[in-house]
Amino acid sequence: SAPLRIGIAGLGTVGAGVLRILSTHPDLIAARSGRPIEVVAVSARDRAKDRGVPLDAYAWEDDPVALAKRPDLDVLVEVMGGHEGAPKDALEAAIATGKDVVTANKALLAHHGQALALEAEQSGRLIRFEAAVAGGIPVIKALTEGLAGNEMTRVMGVMNGTCNYILTRMEETGQGYNALFEECARLGYLEADPNLDVGGIDAAHKLSLLSSIAFGTQVDFDHVEIEGITAVTIEDVRRAGDMGYRIKLLGVAQMTGRGLEQRMQPCLVPATSALGQLQGGTNMVVLEGDAVGQIVLRGPGAGAGPTASAVLSDLVDIARGNRLPTFGQPASTLRQARPAKAAVP
Ligand code: NAP
Ligand code: HSE
Repeated sequence: SAPLRIGIAGLGTVGAGVLRILSTHPDLIAARSGRPIEVVAVSARDRAKDRGVPLDAYAWEDDPVALAKRPDLDVLVEVMGGHEGAPKDALEAAIATGKDVVTANKALLAHHGQALALEAEQSGRLIRFEAAVAGGIPVIKALTEGLAGNEMTRVMGVMNGTCNYILTRMEETGQGYNALFEECARLGYLEADPNLDVGGIDAAHKLSLLSSIAFGTQVDFDHVEIEGITAVTIEDVRRAGDMGYRIKLLGVAQMTGRGLEQRMQPCLVPATSALGQLQGGTNMVVLEGDAVGQIVLRGPGAGAGPTASAVLSDLVDIARGNRLPTFGQPASTLRQARPAKAAVP
């Protein structure tokens, strides 16, 4: 069969990771997709930078929007990051010129997901974003496909590896914030703007995307109540430990009688609980549905391999012809969320 022709905008941790997987086992991916997945062209800011993967076989575009408009592509993979400017322009250009899009960009979707999903729907195109929430954990597919028969009652979990790494290592080592922050940078966990991580914003982006799918509501990032981990001290961590608890940056979204409640904040959890045992950059997502009860998913939430693994799952799905809409149902059918906070007098 004809190959699925892709262009990759962004050759950092995730983009290079995608190239690595595609070159490591192309035959396995072709067998699962029903056709080969072929990289046609790539784009990044600095053409001379060593990415640790060969680029000679691909056309180069300096401008990601030019990449998105190339007529020889079926899919744009957007792994640049940022929620305004180039990534948004590239994504819109791809949709307008008849491509599907795979992105890892939770910030972009948290801010513009509804508008972009509508644009895609009206053009008969797809936006897929498995990599944007909880890295290597296939949580989007769990919600949109595996749990499609459920009315979801709650989604919650630890969705930022950097914060979990810092909090657990604070307890384990007694080290200060700065040293642990540097370790996170070396592991490739950090967002380009690290305040997105430690400020709880990145995790809130992810929570707002899960809420949309779980509750059939338009993405409502503006009403997530957010508190990050910057005010958590070593003393707080020690006191929690003395009482048999651990501090975790926990996101909770639930549909209540007052409307949709979405919170991302440091919480005390029992040290012996599954959440309390969560170490390092690992993520855990708990999904609760009326029929299934509770599902717990745990795994690597960041890094080149896990995130690229999620990008590949979307590419394989598209290559197979799975036309699942962005948020699991057509964007035009998503209800406007009624935020619980606003309903309180
Ligand atoms: P990264 O390492 O900083 O790489 C970003 C890439 O995009 C770089 O290659 C950069 O080019 C390129 N780029 C940025 N702005 C550009 C522009 N205006 N024009 C052309 N190229 C541009 O980022 P990353 O960690 O791979 O993350 C990419 C996306 O995945 C982000 O949305 C992030 O939130 C998401 N994500 C990352 C992880 C993770 O573990 N890293 C996990 C889940 C989701 P240069 O290299 O030339 O500077
Ligand atoms: N900075 C993010 C994290 C990357 O630490 O979880 C994965 O989204």
